[in-house]
Amino acid sequence: MRFDIFTLFPEMFRGPLDESILARARDRGLIEVALHNPRDVTTDRHHVVDDYPYGGGAGMVLKPEPLFAAVEAIHQGGPIVLLSPQGRVFTQAHARELAREERITLICGHYEGVDERIRLHLATEEISLGDFVLTGGELAAMVIVDAVARLLPGVLAPGSTAEESHTAGLLEYPQYTRPPEFRGWRVPEILLSGHHGAVARWRRKEALRRTRDRRPDLLAGAELSALDQRLLAELEEE
Ligand SMILES: C[S@@+](CC[C@H](N)C(=O)[O-])C[C@H]1O[C@@H](n2cnc3c(N)ncnc32)[C@H](O)[C@@H]1O
Repeated sequence: MRFDIFTLFPEMFRGPLDESILARARDRGLIEVALHNPRDVTTDRHHVVDDYPYGGGAGMVLKPEPLFAAVEAIHQGGPIVLLSPQGRVFTQAHARELAREERITLICGHYEGVDERIRLHLATEEISLGDFVLTGGELAAMVIVDAVARLLPGVLAPGSTAEESHTAGLLEYPQYTRPPEFRGWRVPEILLSGHHGAVARWRRKEALRRTRDRRPDLLAGAELSALDQRLLAELEEE
């Protein structure tokens, strides 16, 4: 999978892309991330990429010509995503959709945002990280690269994403590791029992409990089996 990221601040991507799982995925050729600065395609003396908004107001707006030229010079298919607080809010389901693409283009806005013609005629979709405003699209782009890359075959150990939060519409069950007792707080006995069936049942029930308590909106939309219904009934009686 190749990500082409258009940003005025490519240096911001150092660190997140150069550490841990994303760095290994890049080293192993599972993902490729190309950073492009629209400033590089400007032909004027001052390499201007932004200008004052028509109609007045605070802040600067990213001009259409450099972004169109930069994206059109490299785009070879796949979605062109504009990061925007006005876009569709990013979810795990959306990450899964994007993970099926071979190439993804990400456009990072900055300052007051981008000229509307970029949204209308260059981007094929807009993604928001949530109902808050960031100073630029760079952090949002990093989040999307991370969330999508970890779903690609070979990036994580097999099975790592199968049961985690949001994969099947539920939050994940609580996780514990050694020691079995820390400051008097014991790991639930069932996890030490070695009984795989009982552990699986406990985990499913705790995932249901957690989702019911914290995110009832997710539970309402989750596909629940007959066992899930029984476990929920048990939870109601507790
Ligand atoms: C300060 S914001 C511009 C906000 C814009 N004036 C508005 O009110 O919609 C600058 C850039 O940050 C990025 N950005 C800000 N909040 C975001 C969010 N919640 N999700 C994704 N990108 C965001 C976008 O690329 C945006 O163009």
